[in-house]
Amino acid sequence: MSAAPSPVPPPVPHVAPSILSADFGNLAAAAAAVAPTCEWLHVDVMDGHFVPNLTVGPPVVASLRRHSTLFFDTHLMLSDPGRYLAAFRDAGADGCTVHVEVGGTAALIAEMRRLGLRVGLAANPDTPFEAVEPHLSQVDLVLCMTVFPGFGGQSFRPEVLPKVRRVRQAVEQAGLDVAVEVDGGVDEHTAALAAEAGATVLVAGSAVYGVPDPGEAARRLAEAARAAVQHAVT
Ligand code: DX5
Ligand code: ZN
Repeated sequence: MSAAPSPVPPPVPHVAPSILSADFGNLAAAAAAVAPTCEWLHVDVMDGHFVPNLTVGPPVVASLRRHSTLFFDTHLMLSDPGRYLAAFRDAGADGCTVHVEVGGTAALIAEMRRLGLRVGLAANPDTPFEAVEPHLSQVDLVLCMTVFPGFGGQSFRPEVLPKVRRVRQAVEQAGLDVAVEVDGGVDEHTAALAAEAGATVLVAGSAVYGVPDPGEAARRLAEAARAAVQHAVT
């Protein structure tokens, strides 16, 4: 017996540029550069504990909020994200994504919901689908890391693609409106692979901000992803 058709139309993949690879001295310009071609901006928050690197916190998000109307997709690579959720919401984050590896996931999801945040749940490359599966109906986004988080410019891990496929299949079979995001090593080639596997949001740092025209780079990534999806259904 085949599964009932999903009531949710297949989403068109889109790109969320990661400011991790942008000029931190000019983040307003980095946001403005992609605003014509993107709707989301990915903000990587690192605590030097969950990952071996430090980036930005709520004050920087609040400052950038005054310069951009993009959706702030805030990726919290923090050992204790619950401590900072309200601060990120107050700073202007639209969505927050916490890592399932830190534990206490149900309570973190409830708190993000209570705060009115779009709810994201991330899994590292070696974290299995089964870790996120129990939470699928409670979240708005599942982030499958395609690198071990901490640094931009790493190589995409294709071994994560089967998990991307499983997440997307589970979401569709349950008729859920859940975005499937990949993050790490996304370029025009891997964007196509990820989209073909079911990713609907492609985070890209160095492929967008490491080139002279970030807006055009993001547009081309989205085009590559959409072409792959088109190809897969025809
Ligand atoms: C990695 C971050 C990513 C990073 C991706 O820890 O979560 O968002 O910016 O950078 P690229 O696209 O260069 O791999
Ligand atoms: Zn990220």
